Amino acid sequence: MMDSSNIVLRLGKPVDAQAIALLSRELIEPGLGWSWTPARVLGSIHQRDTITLVAAAQQQMIGFAIMYFGLEQAHLNLLAVRPSHQRRGVGRRLLDWLEKSARTAGIVAIFLELRTANIGAHCFYQRLGFSDSAFLPGYYGDREAAIRMVRKLRAGR
Ligand SMILES: CC(C)(COP(=O)(O)OP(=O)(O)OC[C@H]1O[C@@H](n2cnc3c(N)ncnc32)[C@H](O)[C@@H]1OP(=O)(O)O)[C@@H](O)C(=O)NCCC(=O)NCCS
Repeated sequence: MMDSSNIVLRLGKPVDAQAIALLSRELIEPGLGWSWTPARVLGSIHQRDTITLVAAAQQQMIGFAIMYFGLEQAHLNLLAVRPSHQRRGVGRRLLDWLEKSARTAGIVAIFLELRTANIGAHCFYQRLGFSDSAFLPGYYGDREAAIRMVRKLRAGR
């Protein structure tokens, strides 16, 4: 069994853009085309209102999350953990870190969308307190529907 104690979370750096984009293509976007290209991820890393968080073990990136922070709402754009490191609490650590930051920033709710067929991620998000808020037909380039999920952090308008 792998030891998870050596996994650290850190902010993403420009040098991470390629690995994040490749992992997104492999784990999140298969069959949809590649929208999170290295250039787009790099743009997110540089964006002031967006946090790119990386989970690393011995210098190797094993997971990441990208979340946009608005005034009252945050949006989780991407989250993935390498299959070799899944079900060891890494996804939960990434999301907990972002949720804590969102609470500190006064965010009212975190939103995200995921593919309807992604049962594993749906269970994961439910486990972490998210609930379904909408069904979005044709959300992914008119090809596939999405489920929108929300996690309320505090009362808001
Ligand atoms: C979804 C994902 C990020 C979860 O990361 P992870 O590190 O494996 O998740 P954790 O180990 O922190 O899981 C926390 C809890 O969520 C639930 N969970 C996680 N993955 C699950 C799955 N595939 N099926 C059912 N429940 C799951 C479990 O309750 C788990 O606790 P447990 O292992 O003690 O039972 C990971 O499976 C992944 O990268 N999937 C591919 C990319 C993806 O679908 N991203 C989300 C859409 S953007």
